[in-house]
Amino acid sequence: MMTIIVTGGAGFIGGNFIHYYLSAHPEDRVICVDKLTYAGNLSTLAPVMDNPNFRFCKLDICDREGVFALFEEEKPDAVINFAAESHVDRSIENPEIFLQTNIIGTATMMDACRAFGNVRYHQVSTDEVYGDLPLDRPDLFFTETTPIHTSSPYSSSKAGADLLVQAYQRTYGLPITISRCSNNYGPYHFPEKLIPLMIANCLNNKPLPVYGEGLNVRDWLYVEDHCKAIDLILHKGRIGEVYNVGGHNEMRNIDIVKLIIHELGKDESLITYVTDRKGHDLRYAIDPTKIHEELGWFPETKFQDGIKKTIKWYLENRQWWEEIISGEYQNYYEKMYGNR
Ligand code: NAD
Ligand code: TYD
Repeated sequence: MMTIIVTGGAGFIGGNFIHYYLSAHPEDRVICVDKLTYAGNLSTLAPVMDNPNFRFCKLDICDREGVFALFEEEKPDAVINFAAESHVDRSIENPEIFLQTNIIGTATMMDACRAFGNVRYHQVSTDEVYGDLPLDRPDLFFTETTPIHTSSPYSSSKAGADLLVQAYQRTYGLPITISRCSNNYGPYHFPEKLIPLMIANCLNNKPLPVYGEGLNVRDWLYVEDHCKAIDLILHKGRIGEVYNVGGHNEMRNIDIVKLIIHELGKDESLITYVTDRKGHDLRYAIDPTKIHEELGWFPETKFQDGIKKTIKWYLENRQWWEEIISGEYQNYYEKMYGNR
């Protein structure tokens, strides 16, 4: 039996990971550490709140004292660090919090790992650390040896964290791994990101803001496939290694938007072209050969199935995202914990 600290578990991928992990490893104990920023939503974890093998801990990963006290109490066997400021547009408006959480928070979690017996540490990173690829070179992909070359304050802060993780392994012998995944989609995705924003706006008959001409390309992976990859890396990955995770599923933004419109029976007149993002990365594309050959991982959910499942989830869970849009979800912690 293992005790695992999962940071950022009230967010999109961390939340999906906790659901996946508790059912895949019912013998293990999962402790979620989350500050509950605007992106953290405790209702995402409502289905597991009563699971005796689950504990939620409202804590900032930069809070050294709080993190060390939790390690002292729980003696974790492993840490998976999902917690991050994750939205590129917000990083362009206000970089500082990205440096704080994504870099200092990573260092704090790793310092705790060092202090409590060299705890196994996995860093959830992103393909955005590789920068972007040109649109007219479909033969090019990111591999684990592609140089780090970032574009946004977000990707720079994630790259800074990755370098620090590798330095902690080399300098202190911390047993680390890093995964760099492409764009995820699926349930519990915060409706400021492309796919959930377009679904929510479509359902509310609101304009669909497409940046620039909508020709930028992203490589989309169903979130559960990412969760399975992290699980494999945690248990079978080689210490010190980076693993790229991606689905060979490249799509232009405009095609995603049109697909969502058609699935929901809406009209393309909802599309509104807006000013492009500053420094907008053109194309991301992952080569996942290493994780496939070493760990046998491959994406199980095809995009045409995953996007239908995702849209269905948003239709069936309107309350989850409507409370986010209205801001009501931020009172959830009070509702859950106010009287405890
Ligand atoms: P998210 O924004 O949905 O969730 C982030 C979570 O971290 C939230 O619950 C938030 O409350 C929490 N958090 C933020 N700052 C914190 C702090 N200081 N202390 C404790 N908790 C804090 O993000 P996501 O999309 O689920 O991404 C999770 C991780 O995966 C991130 O590290 C991100 O860089 C990486 N990633 C995301 C994608 C993607 O497509 N979303 C792709 C590749 C990698
Ligand atoms: P996003 O979901 O923010 O992920 P990332 O920037 O990390 O890839 O955006 C995905 C793509 O969609 C990106 O090229 C920017 C574009 N986009 C829009 O065109 N309109 C929007 O409203 C948003 C949020 C994103």
